Parts: sequence; structure tokens; C-alpha cells
Amino acid sequence: MEDFFTLIKNRRTIRQFQPEEIPTNILLELADLGRLAPSASNLQPLEFLLVNDQTVRQKVFAGLRWAAYINPAGNPKPGQEPTAYIVILVNTEIRKEGYQHDVGASAENIILGAFTQGIGSCWLISIDRDRLRNALDIPEKYLIDSVLALGYPAEKPVIEDFKGSVKYWKDETEVLHVPKRKLEEVVHLNRYGQRIKN
Ligand SMILES: Cc1cc2nc3c(=O)[nH]c(=O)nc-3n(C[C@H](O)[C@H](O)[C@H](O)COP(=O)(O)O)c2cc1C
Repeated sequence: MEDFFTLIKNRRTIRQFQPEEIPTNILLELADLGRLAPSASNLQPLEFLLVNDQTVRQKVFAGLRWAAYINPAGNPKPGQEPTAYIVILVNTEIRKEGYQHDVGASAENIILGAFTQGIGSCWLISIDRDRLRNALDIPEKYLIDSVLALGYPAEKPVIEDFKGSVKYWKDETEVLHVPKRKLEEVVHLNRYGQRIKN
């Protein structure tokens, strides 16, 4: 396995997937990584709804919006849709607000864990929550925070240095390019404004 830093650096959001299915036991393992993430006051308000059934998958897919900057070029192509989803739910009887940090920690655990298994992912908050609630019978006491779309990757996005725009783009060969701000632009050493040359 690649070392952990390299793994994190190589992870990119994936929106085109191979048809190969993800077994339920792997989804369960990923949910376990979400469950074990840090949680403010250890309240653990999150639950994880796993979807890999073909019919249910189609219903979830209908409620997702992809890659707004390049719409519709970032949509999964027919036959390249995700093969599984993890819907992140918040139990409002445990926590109604201030749960977002917990979601972030759990989602990233799942995303990185998936990546170690060769599974690509896209974290989505542009989702039709009413449609998902109906399709998946989610009770009103749960907030639907976000959806992790999963599958074996059928694309290889690359990162680029930020040059004035955060908007990702696809080139003529359909490779997705993702600008990232430079390390020296986002790091300060010991006092604000003291820069490090990387
Ligand atoms: C909280 C969150 C919500 C996101 N929502 C969406 C979404 O609704 N649709 C989508 O296609 N991508 C979504 N993304 C993926 C981002 O577009 C992606 O992370 C960003 O372009 C950087 O690319 P990278 O993940 O490859 O570094 C989301 C990412 C995060 C962290």
C-alpha cells in the first residue's frame, strides 16, 4: 500500500465509475470507519444508510447533482453511475445543530478508507433531500446531510496549481483538472503573514 500521505495526496473526487459492484460487507466496513470518527462531546448523532441495490440506486441517482462548474460534463455517463451510496443522516433527537464537524470527520474517514480499497467517491451536498427521504423511507427526525457516491473509478482526475480560479475543468480528452491553492498561500508560520517557501 502507498504510504498514507501519498494516499491522501492522490485522492481525487471521482464521478465516472466502472460497473463492478461493491459488496455489502465492504460498505459495512466503510460505515464502521464513519462510526469511529471523532465526535464533538462524543454525542455521535450520525447514522449511515447504505445503498447498493440496483433499483434503489437508480432512485438515489435521480436526486443527485454533479460538478456544478462544468454541468453537464461532470455527470456520470450512462453505464458509469456509482454502484453504491452511503447517505449520512443526523439524528436530530441527539443533535440539531453543530453536527457538521462530525459529518466532515466521518465522511473523510469513509472517503479515505474507500480509497485504500481502490474505491473512488464523490461527496455530494447538492441533493434533492425530499426525493431521497421518500425513496429511502427516511423518518422526519433525521436530517439528510449528504451522500457519498461510491464505485471503482473510471476516470483519473489530476490536480493543478491554482491560477486565479477554483473552477475545475475537463480537457479535450475528458480528463478532469482540479485547481488547488498552493501550500505557501495557505500556511502561516508562527504569526499571520509569515510565509514558508515550499
Ligand atoms: C462538503 C462537500 C460537498 C460537495 N458536494 C458536491 C456535490 O454536490 N456535487 C459534486 O459533484 N461534487 C461535490 N463535492 C466535490 C467537490 O466538488 C470536490 O471535492 C472539489 O472539486 C475538489 O476536488 P477533489 O475532491 O478532487 O480534491 C463536494 C465536496 C465537499 C467537501
